Amino acid sequence: MKFIMTDDKLLITELVLTAYLYNQSDKLGVDDLPNKIRKHYWNEKEATVRRPIYVTEGDLTAIYGLENVKNTAKTLPFLEFEEFGSQIKLTVFDLGAKWLSKHTEAVERIDSNPVLASYFENYDSIPVSYEKAKAMNTPKENGREWINSLVKAIESEKGSEEMLKLVHIVAPEDVRQNLKDLVLTKSQEGEIEKIAKAIQYRDYLKRIGLREIGKLLFVGPPGTGKTSIARALSGKLGIPIVEVKLSQIADQYLGETAKNIDRVFELSKRLKPCILFIDEFDFVAKARATDEHAALKRAVNTLLKAIDEISLVEHGVLLIGATNHPAILDHAAWRRFDEIVEFNLPDKDMRKKILDIVLRDIEGKFDTIEISEKTEGYSGSDLRMIVREAVLTGLITERTVLNQQDLLQGVVEFNRRIPLKSKDENPNENNPARYR
Ligand SMILES: Nc1ncnc2c1ncn2[C@@H]1O[C@H](COP(=O)(O)OP(=O)(O)OP(=O)(O)O)[C@@H](O)[C@H]1O
Ligand SMILES: [Mg+2]
Repeated sequence: MKFIMTDDKLLITELVLTAYLYNQSDKLGVDDLPNKIRKHYWNEKEATVRRPIYVTEGDLTAIYGLENVKNTAKTLPFLEFEEFGSQIKLTVFDLGAKWLSKHTEAVERIDSNPVLASYFENYDSIPVSYEKAKAMNTPKENGREWINSLVKAIESEKGSEEMLKLVHIVAPEDVRQNLKDLVLTKSQEGEIEKIAKAIQYRDYLKRIGLREIGKLLFVGPPGTGKTSIARALSGKLGIPIVEVKLSQIADQYLGETAKNIDRVFELSKRLKPCILFIDEFDFVAKARATDEHAALKRAVNTLLKAIDEISLVEHGVLLIGATNHPAILDHAAWRRFDEIVEFNLPDKDMRKKILDIVLRDIEGKFDTIEISEKTEGYSGSDLRMIVREAVLTGLITERTVLNQQDLLQGVVEFNRRIPLKSKDENPNENNPARYR
């Protein structure tokens, strides 16, 4: 009980001192506030945390889940509780700072709070560093509030509605795909490493005038992880992802299409640093090949021009295109990318690894080598479907613990469904046989 009280006192003091320092110093920015505090005080309209921050009982409950704040605050000599508005006020900053500096448990908190670290790194031998705290603190671009703010601002501009319908924007903190759940080839890993470094050393690249980096084309059959890697990259790099499907552009009012493309690129520049993921890139080639829509062709030219003009180094936008049909892309489309990343159907070893990942949280004993031998030509997505079949079969007999037989049956079920699938309007979609 006593321990919890000390903990509560620390948290109250942390917030009150953080608010005080943030309010005082214009050297500190919104990215210096710890993630939780920043989220709580975020002002959507202004896309920042407005000064001054006031600290109330409700704020402490919302941020740290504290109860009984009033009584705890009253035990601290440098705080005053104001009944009206339940506000907690700092009376003497120095006293509060001294109190915090005396608590060894506080060091850890200060060291992960850039606002406090900026003050305490010059204070009597407390081993904290502003640099380190800042580097560890999640930047605002990671949060959905940041994106909501930008989208709100853009929504209010004339003509932006159609464009916003074309894109799907996800904040890194909401990305569900994780790189460690994806089985990558060595060269895919290499590409990711390169891009991560390029983003980290963007200023350097700008200085030396190296611009030819940051436009990737992901090429490979359906279900091989193109979309998943793009999203996982957003999470890894901590930058939002803006997703566009090119085929959807054709459904829009054609007259507006070229303008919409420009707006999508404009939006990406404003969200920077971010990933702009253009899916179904082969649509460019299809559109060029038709004689029907002059407007569509114009739109495609606009797109190619926009790709030419955007740059990771200059604008902070990492462009990733994805296509299933490399054969139909013409030279004009290819040459706009700096790097082609190949996604092939997984080999036996990769299939085993993917199966192990998909089965990770499923109870049962499995021989994934056997399954990987029976699934030549299957994509990662197909393997997930096999496991899905196995799980559902198990549930029919009320079983949540599965066995090898269920997986083998999953393969059979999956194979049985392939002929059905190929009768769809999209005959080749998801049909592994095509790539064998
Ligand atoms: N290499 C892989 N490792 C782990 N999981 C994979 C891999 N490839 C695909 N998957 C799984 O398959 C599913 C589909 O993958 P994803 O949507 O990324 O494929 P895609 O290449 O974008 O397909 P499409 O071309 O149809 O858009 C995802 O759930 C993903 O987790
Ligand atoms: Mg995809």
